[in-house]
Amino acid sequence: KKLLLIDVDCGTDDAQAIMMAIACPDVEILGITCVGGNTDLENVCRNVLRVLKLCGRLDIPVFRGSSTAILGQNIHASDFHGVDGLGDVPDANAPGLELIQKEHAVDAMKKFACEYPGQISLVATGPLTNLALTVKMDPTFPQKLHSLYIMGGNMESRGNTTACGEFNFVADPEAAYIVLNDYLCPTYIATWEFACRHKFTWEWYDKWVNMGTKKSDFIKKIYAHSLQFSRTEKEEKAIVGGPGFVSCDSYAMAAAIDGSTVTKVIECAVTVEITGKFTRGMMVLDLIDDLKKQNKAFVITECDMEKFKALMESTVLGD
Ligand code: BDR
Repeated sequence: KKLLLIDVDCGTDDAQAIMMAIACPDVEILGITCVGGNTDLENVCRNVLRVLKLCGRLDIPVFRGSSTAILGQNIHASDFHGVDGLGDVPDANAPGLELIQKEHAVDAMKKFACEYPGQISLVATGPLTNLALTVKMDPTFPQKLHSLYIMGGNMESRGNTTACGEFNFVADPEAAYIVLNDYLCPTYIATWEFACRHKFTWEWYDKWVNMGTKKSDFIKKIYAHSLQFSRTEKEEKAIVGGPGFVSCDSYAMAAAIDGSTVTKVIECAVTVEITGKFTRGMMVLDLIDDLKKQNKAFVITECDMEKFKALMESTVLGD
């Protein structure tokens, strides 16, 4: 089985990405680590537990990580994901936070990497704070991973949070900078524009959330808030290539679960702008080897939509 560690700031698309991994029979999730991002850290932890309960997988250990970015900033995406991160749909039966492990996320990541050297694919769908802290505490951590899959950054200078910054990288640019420089393991990046260019039609979305399963009902409920936002003029402008349904985090997850979903990449060194007045948090692709960086990343530019669609559909099947 493929071993996964998942680091999330559990908003709506993180929830769906976790469900995708759970639905895949070839995957074993060792643990889920939480980071503040789409919503605050306590909501993130609660949201992960809600998803695990829905899927009958409360056996997967969940760890609390960093609540703020490395420099202490704290931005959330409540406009899109709701204040609680899952569309502000009340859930009286949400599991209690006492189920969260005592161990810190960073310690858990280091421990798993030592237990399963060279075997873990780490999927990061939030700000990269926990990953940056881990590599600073143990510089050999990335070498103990099999691979890293990130949802974040941008490849055509298009942003969704600032004019040219994607949310996860803008939320913690220093962390993104550290990870892109210090993670010397095969690193795949699903950027904002890549996700937008592989969006679904709203017609497909309507069928997907109306499958009549407990899971499709859950997805429909948690996405209702973000859809009001997605269909606003401002957001439709932000969606590269025109309107449609984009579940960003699922692209990184699909790549980790089944590498054959990735059909085209740009292999190049990447870094993050951390000082620019207008460009802080923007990912930079070094296509002319200006930085002379030894480690190159795989920036995903195309995926097999039929395979991706099948993974999305598997997410909501079965109760
Ligand atoms: C990313 O930011 C978050 O709002 C989403 O969960 C996704 O990880 C898209 O820019």
